[in-house]
Amino acid sequence: MRARILLAALVLFAVGGLTRAQDKPLDRADLDKRVVAVVYEAAVKGTDIFNKGNHEGCYRLYEGTLMAVAPLLDHRPKLQATVKMRLDRASKLKTAADAAFELRTALDEVQNDIAPPKDKKPAATTLWDRLGGEKAVRAVVHDLVLAAAEDPKVNFTRNGKYKLDAKGVEHLEQMLVEFVSSATGGPLKYTGKSMKEAHKGMMITDEEFNALAGHLVATLKKYKVPQTDIDELVKAVDGTRKDIVEKK
Ligand code: HEM
Repeated sequence: MRARILLAALVLFAVGGLTRAQDKPLDRADLDKRVVAVVYEAAVKGTDIFNKGNHEGCYRLYEGTLMAVAPLLDHRPKLQATVKMRLDRASKLKTAADAAFELRTALDEVQNDIAPPKDKKPAATTLWDRLGGEKAVRAVVHDLVLAAAEDPKVNFTRNGKYKLDAKGVEHLEQMLVEFVSSATGGPLKYTGKSMKEAHKGMMITDEEFNALAGHLVATLKKYKVPQTDIDELVKAVDGTRKDIVEKK
């Protein structure tokens, strides 16, 4: 409680004291800057307190800070409502650690809303980037080829007709990475044969195609790719079905 009173006094001093010194009211921009500074400091101090094992102390520091700051956010009603909602939600959480995390989110929201970080990377716009770029796609492709090669429902080697030796696998994986890149907005160009040409005469069935698509979904899930991105990639792959599946 004492810590909270002290903190509230500090916030009021930081905001009000300086106003008096300059003898003119603070404009909103100045007030915002100070709110961000106070919130930032609380987050840094709170993290330190939390990491030393004092979850309750951290929670109360965040709570005091947000209680003092909330009335100063009346010009940002949405943010103010979010802060109040998180304070309320935190007070109902079972552990102090959970409450501290809830309020840490609020502190971050205040900072990001008032002063969005300028050097923040823009959200990944291409599916390729969202998948994690070349390294991640290579890993997915590698796992996919392993799973498909072992599954008789896919019959990847077409009953042993195509030998998957180390060199063959390396080439196939490279082609698949390039293929995914070109289908998802990545920087690598596909340099292989057309899908029709590559699979001509393999007599691949819809069921075999589906089995391979199933492995793709399972592998992407293993790599924690969000469902919307899985759907987008599967849709792109499904676009090749007409060129790969051959009807008797
Ligand atoms: C059940 C389905 C499939 C089977 C059994 C299958 C089988 C094969 C085999 C055996 C090869 C090697 C051919 C060779 O060495 O000449 C190959 C190559 C390839 N496959 Fe498939 N495939 C299937 C589906 C797909 C799908 C869905 C894609 C992509 C969307 C794909 C992309 C490729 C690529 C990029 C190559 C390399 C082409 C090249 O060497 O230029 N395949 N496939």
